Amino acid sequence: MKEKKYITTPIYYVNDVPHIGHAYTTIIADTLARFRRLQGYDTFFMTGTDEHGQKIEQAALVRNKTPQEYADEISGKFRSLWDEFEISYDHFIRTTDADHKLTVQNAFEKMQKNGDIYKGEYEGFYCVSCETFFTQTQLVDEECCPDCGRKTSIVKEESYFFKLSKYQDALIKWYEENERCIMPKGKKNEVISFVKGGLKDLSITRTSFDWGIKLPASSNDPKHVMYVWLDALLNYLTTLGYTRGDDKMEFWQDTTHIVGKDILRFHAIYWPAFLMSLNLPLPKHVAAHGWWTRDGEKMSKSKGNVVNPHEVASAYGLENFRYFLLREVPFGQDGDFSQKALIERINSELGNGLGNLLSRIIGMSSKYSEYKINSMQTAKFYEAELNEAHEYLKNAIENLENFATNRYLEEIWKVVALANGAVAKYEPWAMIKAGKSEEANTLVALCANLLAKIAVILSPAMPHTCDKIAQALGFEISTEIYNKIILQNELLNFIAKPTQPLFPRIETELMARPSEPEAALKEEPKDGCDESIITIDDFKKIVIKVGTVLECEKVEGSDKLLKFQIDLGEEKPRQILSGIAKFYDLSTLVGRQVCVLANLKERTMMKKYVSQGMILSAEDGSLSLLSTDAKVKNGSIVG
Ligand code: MSP
Repeated sequence: MKEKKYITTPIYYVNDVPHIGHAYTTIIADTLARFRRLQGYDTFFMTGTDEHGQKIEQAALVRNKTPQEYADEISGKFRSLWDEFEISYDHFIRTTDADHKLTVQNAFEKMQKNGDIYKGEYEGFYCVSCETFFTQTQLVDEECCPDCGRKTSIVKEESYFFKLSKYQDALIKWYEENERCIMPKGKKNEVISFVKGGLKDLSITRTSFDWGIKLPASSNDPKHVMYVWLDALLNYLTTLGYTRGDDKMEFWQDTTHIVGKDILRFHAIYWPAFLMSLNLPLPKHVAAHGWWTRDGEKMSKSKGNVVNPHEVASAYGLENFRYFLLREVPFGQDGDFSQKALIERINSELGNGLGNLLSRIIGMSSKYSEYKINSMQTAKFYEAELNEAHEYLKNAIENLENFATNRYLEEIWKVVALANGAVAKYEPWAMIKAGKSEEANTLVALCANLLAKIAVILSPAMPHTCDKIAQALGFEISTEIYNKIILQNELLNFIAKPTQPLFPRIETELMARPSEPEAALKEEPKDGCDESIITIDDFKKIVIKVGTVLECEKVEGSDKLLKFQIDLGEEKPRQILSGIAKFYDLSTLVGRQVCVLANLKERTMMKKYVSQGMILSAEDGSLSLLSTDAKVKNGSIVG
């Protein structure tokens, strides 16, 4: 029977549409899953959405939707993006699925039976955006979240606790005995020192909101819902049919979780402790990647610079985007997205390197041997090159197994350079001129074999590109071929075919940059913590008025801006442009009262629209318009 491997992405919060960070995690996991299948493992790969908790409840409320309606909408967006990206998931879980509720309640009961859950009162701080509890000493500045910098709220409520402290020693033992359980190493060391610093028991239920899974009926405590991280982590078991006693649970024996560095603590500390309490084996690997910025800046909705993966893939090609993400950053470190860097990699490494190699081979084989490539003499004449390539390919595999996707690709590109270098060095055209056509064919066969090996080993990262290469050389990528030409270093004969260039050159940036006026709509929120102090006189300079939206329409050429006519109790309504199109349904805005910064200097946006003020809103990961508690006269001053 084939060995089993289980690969997971985190499940994505539905308070936000997919962005480059989500695409990155998913593409790494997809590459790994495809690689495991290529190696012949029975592989199960899952992704999905995390739909409960206070953050989602609030995001739905802002949009006048029920949490379920809202979750359905955004979960659908994730799923369709992954389908568009041909992510090879075997299961897409939603934490609102009925079987997941059973898993969570069942796990709660088991942990309780194991003596790991007790009832008490939680008093401390909570960051809704990170869905994390903090003690006062962990906070930064004045009561701000140490992870995201946003203001935390004080929570005092009855809660069930999980005895996390009981597992401190067992966790340390696990880290020490399993070198690659947390990766990369630097991140593992951070986890170890955090745990050695002492673990407190973890609050695992909430009572101040509803949007979550209730405790099992046996607890007879209906006011509690599960803490969203307990709920979310257990998704990895639901997917394998934990409560159904499914034989898919066999995949659990070899589990790899791909996560971002921000959620490593949950996966490397809480999760293994929960699993120990459930008497289940611990994951083989928890691998944490870094974060992306854009053009050197942190991405944020208010800056309008969030990279939309669909847009990049449509403009530059999905596989070019995959290549860039996997190649650009050392695993675990932060990376920067810029069109310039992407174009450079497409034109040089992909176009001049790989694309050029394919066209040369096809060109030479057509000229010298009517597309027939015979490898009979190749091993004899080019043993050194073949052995060198074999070493690079072994390193590529080892790097991918260690999640170092950049090094995996670097090693493959050493083979690309070796093949292109061999053409330059041995000059087959000179051989032909000198009448040594067999020698020239042998060299073409060396290059074709190197390219075939490249196509096979690169196929998890760029499946379609590699299929095209394989078709042009006349073979098919499969586990059998992987074993033969990668592991055994064997050679193939080919009958090649003419083919189109793989990577047409890109001369200019293909996506609009985050446009200045839109980007300047709002400053990055200051998280309520590091604002500079102003005097009352400064404040008096600000005029905020309440007004009613009379008209509202989309601005042509912008997917963010809306154009409003607002009655501020003045002679004429004001025209104001605001970048909230992604957060509000147009039909819900007319007739509504909003707060407007009324003495802001007029400015022209999108080169032709005058905007006479700013509509005020609050940001906490999503966006909510400010308004007054009750309807007031238009023009009323806020102060
Ligand atoms: N719902 C939790 C995960 C629960 S798993 C049991 C969550 N969701 S998330 O949608 O906020 O984030 C999911 C993943 O996206 C994380 O791995 C996170 O690191 C990644 N990214 C979010 N923004 C990112 C960047 N700017 N760059 C890279 N990845 C980032 O956390």
